[in-house]
Amino acid sequence: MLLLPNQIEGVAHHKTKDRYNLHKGPLWLPPRRKFRLPLHEFLTLFFELTFNWVINSTGELTLAHRLLNRDFPMNLSSPPETTNSKDSPAIVALHELQSATGVAWNLWTRIAASKWVESNSSDDCELDEAHSARMAFHPTCFDLFEKAFGEQSIQSEQSDPNQWWVVSPLLGPYGNLHSVAITTVSGDQRESITKLASLSLNYQREKLRAEQLESENAQFAQQVGDDFEEMTFLRTMADSLAVGDTSLGIKEVVTRSFEMLHGILGAEILCFVELDEAGQPKSSIRQTDDTEHAQVSQDACDVLAQRFCSQVTSGPLVRNDLIHQTEEEAQGTSQQLLIVPVQTSVRQFGWFMAINRGPGFTQHGKAPLLCASLHEFGTWEASLLSTAASVIASHASNLEHLREKGQLLVSVVRSLVSAVEAKDAYTCGHSERVALYTKRLAQHLSYDEESTERIYLTGLLHDVGKIGVSDATLNKAGSLTREEFGEIQEHPDYGWSILCELRQLAYVLPGVLHHHERFDGAGYPDGLSGHDIPLDARIMAVADAYDAMTSDRAYRAGMPHEKAVGILTDGAGTQWDPEIVSSFLEIVNDFVKIRQQYQPHQRRVRTGSAIVYQD
Ligand SMILES: [Fe+2]
Repeated sequence: MLLLPNQIEGVAHHKTKDRYNLHKGPLWLPPRRKFRLPLHEFLTLFFELTFNWVINSTGELTLAHRLLNRDFPMNLSSPPETTNSKDSPAIVALHELQSATGVAWNLWTRIAASKWVESNSSDDCELDEAHSARMAFHPTCFDLFEKAFGEQSIQSEQSDPNQWWVVSPLLGPYGNLHSVAITTVSGDQRESITKLASLSLNYQREKLRAEQLESENAQFAQQVGDDFEEMTFLRTMADSLAVGDTSLGIKEVVTRSFEMLHGILGAEILCFVELDEAGQPKSSIRQTDDTEHAQVSQDACDVLAQRFCSQVTSGPLVRNDLIHQTEEEAQGTSQQLLIVPVQTSVRQFGWFMAINRGPGFTQHGKAPLLCASLHEFGTWEASLLSTAASVIASHASNLEHLREKGQLLVSVVRSLVSAVEAKDAYTCGHSERVALYTKRLAQHLSYDEESTERIYLTGLLHDVGKIGVSDATLNKAGSLTREEFGEIQEHPDYGWSILCELRQLAYVLPGVLHHHERFDGAGYPDGLSGHDIPLDARIMAVADAYDAMTSDRAYRAGMPHEKAVGILTDGAGTQWDPEIVSSFLEIVNDFVKIRQQYQPHQRRVRTGSAIVYQD
C-alpha cells in the first residue's frame, strides 16, 4: 500500500546533532519538530560535505536499504530496474542528500512520462492518474516531481497550513537518475532545508562535473598513450625499412613488422598472404604470438586466405563472428578475422591477415580506446594494420625499383663488354672469366659481399677501353710494332675516359686504369709500384694474366695451366703482388673449375621482329 508523507504516523527519531545517523523508524519520517540549524553548524556541515563527503556506512540507513534505482546512459529509454543494492547511484545520491539536510527523504523513480513509482514500494504502489481520484494530493506531488526532474532544481509546495513538500532531483554518475527525493517539513524548516538541498544539488553537479573531467582526462591520457605506442611502432618500422637496405626482401620486412605488431594489435596469428604463381593467395609467413593460445593451424590459415582474401581489393575486411564452412577451415579455433591488402596504386603484393583477438594477445592486456573490444577486431586494428600494409607495400615497391636500377646498371656493363667483344672476337669471354677469377680471389681475400660484387663488375669492364683501339691493331695476327703496342697501352686510359662520367660506376675506375701496372713499377699507364697500385688492380692483374696466358689469342694458342701457374709464381714480387699470387696459388683449383665450367654469354641477335639466341 502506498504511504505518503502526511499519512505516516511515524515518530521523529531525527536528532539534529546526530545528523549522520539516519532514522531506524518507519520508512517515511517527517520531522515533526522545529528544525533549526545554527550558522556555524551549517558552515561546518557545508565544508564537511564539500571536502570530506561522509556517508554513514554502519548499516543504519533504514530509508535506504530498501530503495534502489539503477540508471545507465546506454539505456535511458528503458524503465529503471529495481534491486536492493546499497551501491546504486540513486541510493548513494539519496544518502548524500540526507546527510546534507539532516532530514529523511523518500525516493521516487520516473518510469515513464508523468508516471512515478515509489522505489521502496511494490509494483502495486505505482501511481498514475487512476490513483489521483482517491489521493487528491498526488497530482500536486507529481507536478513537483516533473518540475524538479525537468528543471533539475529544488521545488517546494505547501501541502497544508503547517507543512511543505520539498522535492529535489537526484544526480548520479551519468547525470540525471530519473529519480527525485521528497520530504515534508514545517514552515519554519522549509527555507533552510530548501537551501541545504539546493547546496547539496549544486555540490552534486560540481562533483559530477569533476568526475566527468577526471574520466575524460584519464581517457585522453590513455588515448595519448595508445597513439604514442602506435607512433612508436610506425617510426620503428620506418627506421627498419631504410630504402638503401636492398638486402631486405619483403618477407624479411614483414617478419620484422609482425614482431612489433603482435603485441600492439592483440592478434593470435599474423599472416602475410602472398600471391602465388597462379595468382592465388597462399599464406607464406605465419607468425604466432608464442603463447599457449596459438591454436590455428597453417592449413586453416591457407583455407581462410583462399576463402576471403580475393574479396579484399581495397579496404579492410573484418569478421568477428566467423562461421566455418569446412572441417579443414575449422582446424584450430579461428573466430575473429581481419584482412587488409598489401598494395600500392600499381601493384598488389598480397594481404595481411590477423586471426583471433583477445586480451591474452595484447602487450598490456588492455584494449586501446578506439578498438571495438578486447575480443573483436575494430576500426583501430584495421587502421593500424592497413597503415603497416601500406608502408610495407611502398617499401617493397621501392626495393623493386632499386633492384631494377641495379639490373639496368649491370645490363649497361654487359652491353659495354659486348661492344668490346664485338671488336675482338678472339677475346670473347675474356672479360667474363677475368671477372669470375677476380671475384673468387676477392672472396678468398675476405672482401665483403658488396665489395666482391663491385670488383666483379670491375673485372667485366677492365678492358672496355679497347673500344678506342683500332681493329687492325686489336686483331693483328703477328707481333705488334712499337706504335701498335703504344696504342694497346692506351686502353686503360680509354676505359677510364669512357666510364668516368658514370657516377654509379666510379668504384671500377682504379681497377680499370691500373690493371696493367707492375709490382716493380715497370707497368703502365702511370708506372705505379707496390702497394701504390690499388688493391683491386693488383688482384685484377693476376686474374687478367692467368686468363690471357691460358686463352687462345689471334696470334697464339693458349698455354697449359701448369705453365701459366709457373709464370705467375716466377713473376711474384716483380710483375705481380706476391701476396696476391700466394692467394691465387691457394685457390688455383678453383680457377681451373671456373675455366672448365665457363659458358660464353649468349649474344642476342634480332631475326625479323623476334629475338633469338645465337649459339
Ligand atoms: Fe687489359
